[in-house]
Amino acid sequence: MDDLRDKYLTAIADAGDEAALEDLRVQAVGKKGEISLKMRELGKMTPEERQVMGPKLNALKDEINSALGARKQGLADAALDERLRTEWLDVTLPARPGRSGTIHPVSQVTEEVTAIFADMGFAVAEGPQVESDWHNFDALNIPGHHPARAEMDTFYMHRAEGDARPPHVLRTHTSPVQIRSMELQGAPLRVICPGRVYRADYDQTHTPMFHQIEGLAVDKDISMANLKWVLEEFVKAFFEVDGVDLRFRASHFPFTEPSAEVDIRCSWEGGTLKVGEGDDWLEILGSGMVHPKVLMAGNIDPAAWQGFAFGMGIDRIAMLKYGIPDLRAFFDSDLRWLRHYGFSALDVPTIRGGLSR
Ligand code: DAH
Repeated sequence: MDDLRDKYLTAIADAGDEAALEDLRVQAVGKKGEISLKMRELGKMTPEERQVMGPKLNALKDEINSALGARKQGLADAALDERLRTEWLDVTLPARPGRSGTIHPVSQVTEEVTAIFADMGFAVAEGPQVESDWHNFDALNIPGHHPARAEMDTFYMHRAEGDARPPHVLRTHTSPVQIRSMELQGAPLRVICPGRVYRADYDQTHTPMFHQIEGLAVDKDISMANLKWVLEEFVKAFFEVDGVDLRFRASHFPFTEPSAEVDIRCSWEGGTLKVGEGDDWLEILGSGMVHPKVLMAGNIDPAAWQGFAFGMGIDRIAMLKYGIPDLRAFFDSDLRWLRHYGFSALDVPTIRGGLSR
């Protein structure tokens, strides 16, 4: 028995891999292994002999089994150590340029606009993309028969048969976030609301999903003058020019009175857009003084408070600023397009650090 123990314990300690260990296990304690055969011989012994040999054989079997287990664990640990030694990665090395992703122009421009308005004291507010038709229309002074409902090519959500409530809609603009912000925060209030909006429309300048950013300021003694100043500051900062002429054109929106569409001076000389010079005008947003009915829908007393609001297309101003011709390509997920028009993930737009440099 001592010979058997020496033989196997030495072999186990020397085994170089799991396969060698398994061979040893079969040889020693497998069904026809040496120790198993010895145990079978117990049957032929006298009871006295068996009382001595039985426990000894069992102890030897246990000893060999636990040596096998310990060696197996040792081999696994050594294999892991070896992997850790060879498969290491220096995470402080710079990323490979070809492998790094880019920031989508929509995200970049949203960050730029947010940085500019944050600097003027506007907080970011959000609302749901599946919106009640009350928030999307009625609260904004667009009643059921109003032509704006048809004009917006609204996507309606499904209602179960027999459910008479008006269906929810995919919001057609970010203006309902005005109502939600007023409901939530009350006056005074200064928010911008970027997000996705939806209309059933598709051509070179329209996609069924696109992005808008809404602005709303409610306070005492707010006037058109405040609106003009804020928008001028915004346009100068966004297009990164010192001076820019804005043209406020009388217009009509149900949720503002008076209403104005805002154009910026630009030139298309040589086929490229230059903001701030030339004799052309480019429409960039809609705006106005918040209609008293809209303030009331947001539980704000129009006798005590006034506000201005504006809304613009994020994708549209991204196309203008960065010279991107086709809106549809924004949402094609074409890697070549994303590499060409995308922005570095490490250049976060800030007012002082620069928006796009
Ligand atoms: N909601 C309008 C649209 O989608 C844009 C708009 C115009 C928003 C005037 C405003 C505003 O807040 O005052 O066409």
